[in-house]
Parts: sequence; structure tokens; C-alpha cells
Amino acid sequence: MYWMGIDVGTGGTRALLVDERGRVRAGFTAPHEEMRMERPLWAEQRPENWWEATQQAVRGVLREAGITGAQVRGIGLSGQMHGLVMLDETGEVIRPSLIWCDQRSQAQVDWVNATLGPEAVLRYTANPVLTGFTLPKLLWVRDNEPARFARLRKMLLPKDYVRYRLTGEYATEVSDASGTSLFDVVRRTWAWEMVERLGLDKNILPAVYESSDVTGAVTAAAAEATGLEPGTPVVGGGGDQASSAVGNGIVEPGVVSCTLGTSGVVFAHMDQPAYDPQGRVHTFCHAVRGAWHVMGVTQGAGLSLQWFRNHLAPGGDYDALTREAAASPPGAHGLFWLPYLMGERTPHLDPYARGGWIGLTAKHSRADLIRSLLEGVSYSQKDCLDLIEQLGVRVASVRLSGGGARSAFWRQLLADVFARRVVVLETQEGSAYGAALLALAGTGPYSSVPEVCRVAIREVEALEPREAESQFYARGHAVYRALYPALREIYRRIEAL
Ligand code: XUL
Repeated sequence: MYWMGIDVGTGGTRALLVDERGRVRAGFTAPHEEMRMERPLWAEQRPENWWEATQQAVRGVLREAGITGAQVRGIGLSGQMHGLVMLDETGEVIRPSLIWCDQRSQAQVDWVNATLGPEAVLRYTANPVLTGFTLPKLLWVRDNEPARFARLRKMLLPKDYVRYRLTGEYATEVSDASGTSLFDVVRRTWAWEMVERLGLDKNILPAVYESSDVTGAVTAAAAEATGLEPGTPVVGGGGDQASSAVGNGIVEPGVVSCTLGTSGVVFAHMDQPAYDPQGRVHTFCHAVRGAWHVMGVTQGAGLSLQWFRNHLAPGGDYDALTREAAASPPGAHGLFWLPYLMGERTPHLDPYARGGWIGLTAKHSRADLIRSLLEGVSYSQKDCLDLIEQLGVRVASVRLSGGGARSAFWRQLLADVFARRVVVLETQEGSAYGAALLALAGTGPYSSVPEVCRVAIREVEALEPREAESQFYARGHAVYRALYPALREIYRRIEAL
């Protein structure tokens, strides 16, 4: 018997099959269309394209494993968070999705704060409202595209659009709902009073489940489209970060993860919801019943390297680029990279922040550029780690995952910059794996998510920080931290130009 995880990422959708012990049996990724960036802070994707990719990925993974849909006992969904999917009364998509990294909605964030007061927003949702979250994106459509807004009947998150196509149900789960700015994270329900005070129709919100609960079953039409069996149960799943954390076994206190995908996220489990009064890290519901998590987000982590490859090393592959970085010494001869290619969340919460190199000289080589880029992203992740520790989370070691963790060079760099032991797990499948484990917890022979993780997850490699390098990077980090405050006003002047 098999359980399936489907992760609707930014670059592609991945389907993964595991057996009853959580061992990976097959995986298949179908790429997405490029995200559309009509203006610098805008980012859109077509939800219909996620569903096309899902069909391909599911068919691909069944083929790869040589099995039929009838052998799949349960499905879990994971996905990029915060994206706005708008459906009309016939279930048609009204406009392309404003996705997680879209930063166009500062005016709407200001409106929410002026209408409710920032303290009330924190009380309702345990987080400040941010341009990255779903609510201000919805309000942007209200303010700029009233005819489209008038047609809105349901608002869904990216993976929940795929759930709708698979099961016909309008549903989400607590971890992804936490990133909408409309969810009462402490009580694990929609923030109804806030919804009302903002003048929004409460019927646009889908039903909310816990992450391992069954939310519906595959319909005959979806079965036809994917090769799955009609009636296969689909559990809630999780936002990609909560799912990835389940896949990394971050389901009990003490272990922290760092996931380097397009974004970079440092993630910790919490038994009680604690939050940073300045909201620099997010406090969300975990995909584990009765648990919460805190996470810090670097917007442009893997994105920095992707941007570099696309524009400065066309045709190059990531392994070759990270190997090239090793030719440059720690600190890249005094070169610093600011990874603010899509503004920044932790710790600056600034959609106007911009990326760039500081410290370039005629001596610098391409290896220096790449090394500084990896160092800058690592410093930014260290900022996240520091804030999480300040909330009282104990960090014994950091489990690495995501594309960035595939590079041996970057793994050691992270150990040195974090000044912490970093650990690599046997299965590095991230979010799709976590979604499959959530399916196993909800429809397999287990009673809880931590029980599944104890069976499925094993550490295979540990790297210790090197003393001299760590000391060097502590000094480098202090310089890095001084750069953003020096540029903050300049970013506003650039925006105003
Ligand atoms: C988390 C976040 C990203 C996206 C895309 O808050 O915005 O991790 O989910 O991966």
C-alpha cells in the first residue's frame, strides 16, 4: 500500500509515494510556467497551471512506481503559502493568483492597520498584517479591480485550489490558513470578528480542518484526469513550510530546521503560541494537532542563486556554481550580498528593500560573487535563527533541507555561520514528503504525526561548525547587519523616484 504527497511549489508540482513505514518509493516533478512579473514587486501564476502540473505529476509518479491509483490509500497536499486564488460562483478562476512573494499591497496593509489598529490585528491573528500575506492581496483586487472582486465567491490558497479540483470541496487546514492574515492562530479558527470589521463576506472562506484530518475524496472526474481511484481520501496537508517541517521531523521541541528553497525558512516547533511583539518572525499553527510553530523567512534565498544563474551564468548548473564558490575565501574579499530581491520579511519586514552587492572591487571574480551570495543568504537565515532563539526556543542542532542543502559547500557554510551542528536527513524530499507523512498519519496505521515521524525519519550526516570560520563569520554578520539600516531610507527614495 502507498500514500501520496503532492506539493504545489513555485517552480513545479511534485508528487511522491511512500510505503507504510514512510519510505520513499517514487517521485515525479512537473514544472510550472514561469511566474509572471509584470512590475518589480508583482508575481503571478495561473492556478489552472498548478492543476495541469498536478495531473502530470500524479500520472508520472504512478508510472514511475509501476502501480495503479487503487494502491494509493490516502493523499496529502502541501503548497506555496499565502497565494490568493479567487473563484466565482461556478468555481472558475477569476484572475491569476497573486502569489506569496508578490509585494504590491502596502497601501492595503496600511488600510488594515488604520481600520483596525495594529494591536487588534496582532490580537486577532497573532501576527502583523504583511504585504506577503493573503488578505492585503485580496484587498488590492478590491481596490484596483472592482469588477473582478464583485464576482468573488470563494477564496482559496494554492494547494487548496488543487484540493478543490481533486475533491470538489472548498477546504483548507490550519497551517496554511495561518498565513492569510484572517485566521485566529491561537484558537485555530477564522478570525470572524476581524472578517466582519473589514466588511468582507464570511462565505468566501473555505472550511478549515486540522492537517491530518480527511477533507474529502477524489471525484470521478479527478480520477479520470489523474489516474487516481475515485473515493481516495485527501487529508488537509499543510503549507509548504509546515509540511517540510513534518518531513524533517520538526514535530517536537528542541530541533530546528532550515529549508533553502526559493525562499529560505528557519522553523521551530512550539507547544504554546509565542510571538515576537514586532512580528519579525511568523507564529502559525503547526500541521501537528495542538501545536504551533515559529518561522523566519528570507524572501530571496534559492532565488538569489536562481537569479544569478539566469542572468549571469546562463546554462550553468547549481552544483557547478556552488563548487565555483569554494575557490573564493571566507568573506569573498570583503564582498557582501543583500538577498532582498523580493523585498524582505525577517527581520526587516520591508517590501521596498532591494538586493545588491556592497564592497565590489576590480579584483573580484565570479567565484567571489557566488560565494558572497551564498554567505549573504546564510547571514539572513542566521538573523532568523537569532530571533527564534530570542523567543526562548532552544536550538541544539539545525536540520537542513531544500535544494540549497544539496550542496556540501553550502552545508558547511551554514554550520559555520550558524555556529551550530547541522544535520542532514536520510530523506530530503521536503514538503512533498511531509504531505505524504500527513496522509499516512490521517489514513494509515498511526495515531499521530509525531508517531509517523518517529518511524520514518533518520539523521544520516552531521557537520560541526569550524571554530576559526565561525568566529570570522560572527564578525562578517555584524557588518552585514549594519548594511540594511544604512540603506533603508535609500530604498524609499528609489521607490519614490
Ligand atoms: C512562507 C513562504 C514561502 C512560500 C513559498 O511563509 O512564503 O515559504 O510558502 O515557498
